[in-house]
Formats: sequence, structure tokens, C-alpha cells
Amino acid sequence: MNANIAPLNSVARAMVAKGKGLLAADESSGTIKRRLDTIKVESTEENRRAYRELLLTTPGVEEFISGVILYDETIRQSAKNGKAFPEVLASKGILPGIKVDKGPVDLPGFPGEVVTEGLDGLRQRLAEYVKLGAKFAKWRAVIAIGAGIPTEGCIKANAHALARYAALCQEAGVVPIVEPEVLIDGNHTIERCEEATEATLKAVFAELRSHRIALEGMVLKPNMVLSGKDCPQQASVTEVAERTIGCFRRVVPAAVPGIAFLSGGQSAEAATEHLNAMNAMGAHPWEVSFSYARALQDPVMKAWKGEAANVAKAQKIFYHRAKCNGAARSGKYSKEMEAQAA
Ligand code: 13P
Repeated sequence: MNANIAPLNSVARAMVAKGKGLLAADESSGTIKRRLDTIKVESTEENRRAYRELLLTTPGVEEFISGVILYDETIRQSAKNGKAFPEVLASKGILPGIKVDKGPVDLPGFPGEVVTEGLDGLRQRLAEYVKLGAKFAKWRAVIAIGAGIPTEGCIKANAHALARYAALCQEAGVVPIVEPEVLIDGNHTIERCEEATEATLKAVFAELRSHRIALEGMVLKPNMVLSGKDCPQQASVTEVAERTIGCFRRVVPAAVPGIAFLSGGQSAEAATEHLNAMNAMGAHPWEVSFSYARALQDPVMKAWKGEAANVAKAQKIFYHRAKCNGAARSGKYSKEMEAQAA
């Protein structure tokens, strides 16, 4: 390994350390508003700050959370005691990270498909985020399954942007989380998800290679191979685990330190069960970890409801979900763990 890759490799390995995973708390302004709407809390800057403070200051969560992905607004905010959020995390030994993409836009000429923007000025933005304490970054590409899609054109455009982003991150000394998400939306079978996921990953690794990315200094954040949300035939936990691991073994080089799956609309418990089943299958070439937003946060947000009086209860629920996923990192999660929560 090239000498200047060693620091990136050590951060990447810490992100996917055994027994731990990542919390994605990097919802953009639009997404966090949608989430807060579900609990009837207004999306003001103070409410967003208070909610993120609840997550980041949860006692003991550092036992299971290695890093947190923040949003541009959040990385600049502070806890009530005046401590900046990146500092709050660093003092618990949790790595602060930052979402740097600017979201998906319609890909011209490809109806129903999108490409992620945000490369312009990224070198300068990364330099600022490094000053604010970011050790890693995230860029999400979105691939939809439908009639005649995904197309090769869409996959290539997204893979190219991911590789350009990853190169800028490594130049800045920041570990890129490379996130190609094949969406769960639709009535497609698990076979189609596997096909689309494999084609996407192949294209992504070809572009990463051509852009000279050091694979040792990145983390992959993909979807699991799942049945479409509206597919009448839902695959079992075992089938999801076997197809996902099978697909990734074919296309993800062993030099990548870890795969941190997104939850992508699965229920909190399903995301934990799937992760557990994959790790129970035995040793893999890379760490098999998590980088969940909804699967860690949904029950927490529901318990909080925007009320200061509910913070302690909501933090207990967050700690519990983090603990369950921490156990799933080594195949030691069980349904009985859920019962212990109450
Ligand atoms: P979900 O776990 O809710 O899919 O979110 C992960 C994420 O960061 C999406 O970019």
C-alpha cells in the first residue's frame, strides 16, 4: 500500500471496526422535513438541532457507533452546552463524517432515471469540511428499477460521478463512502435487484479503478439484494443474506476494508436481521457492517415526538437499536434481544 494511503486505510478500518457501524444522520433539509412531518414536528433549525443533539449525545452509543454522517447544516451546529457537534463526537471517540453530494436530478434523455450532482467546487468544500473536523464523506447515487431501467447510460453517469468524488476525497485526506443505492421501490423480484446491483457495482469498481482510487482507503455503502417493496413474493432472510453476499463476492475486491449497508426502507428489525444473517454465514473478505439512517432512527423519532421530556426514553431506544446492530456485526443478534428493550 502506498504510504499516503495508510492514514485513509486506518480511518476506513475504524469506520467498520468489529461490533460497530455508522449512523447516517445526514438527511438533507428536504428529507429531514419529511421525517419530522411524520411526527408532526415543524422543521425549524432549532428542532433539527435538538433532534440531532439527542442522537449525538446518547450515553454509551459509542460502544456500537464508529462514525456519524452529518449534513452541511449539522456539522456547523452545537450542543446546548456550546460544544460543536463534531467535537461532541470526537470526545466520544466517534468519527465525524459529512454528506457532500447535492442530491439527484433528472438525467436528461433517460426518463425515470437520475444522476447525483455536487462535483463543482467540491475540492474547496472538502477543504472546509476538513477544518470543521470531517474524517470521511458520503456521496449517494440512486439507481431505480422499472420497465427498461436501469439503463447502462444511467449506471455509467452515476459511477463516473462517484469516482470523481472519491478521487477528490482521497486527495483531501478524507475517506470516501461510495454509495450506489439500487432502490427497493417497485414490484420487481429479488433476481432483478441482484442483476441491477451487480451491474451497478461492476460499473462503479471499473470507474474507481480508472480514476485511481485506493480501494484500501474507502468504504462501500450499498443496498442489500432484496425483493422489491411491492413484490408479492418476499424473499426470506436467508435468501437475502445468501444472494447479497454472493453478489458482493463476485464484484467487490477484497482490498475494500468494509461494506456498510444502507437500510433503504426496510423496517428497523428486518435491517438488523439481514445484517445478522450475513455475518452468521462466516468470515467474509471485507467487514460487513451498517450505515443506517431510518433503521436506526425511525423508532427514536417516534419516541421523541419533539418533546424534551421524551429525550431520555428516545435515547434508550437509540442505544438499544445500536446495540442490536452491533450484535448483528458478528451474527450474535437474536429476537430475544428485542424483548430486553422494554
Ligand atoms: P437509510 O438507511 O434510511 O436507507 O439511509 C441511509 C443513507 O444514508 C441514505 O443515503
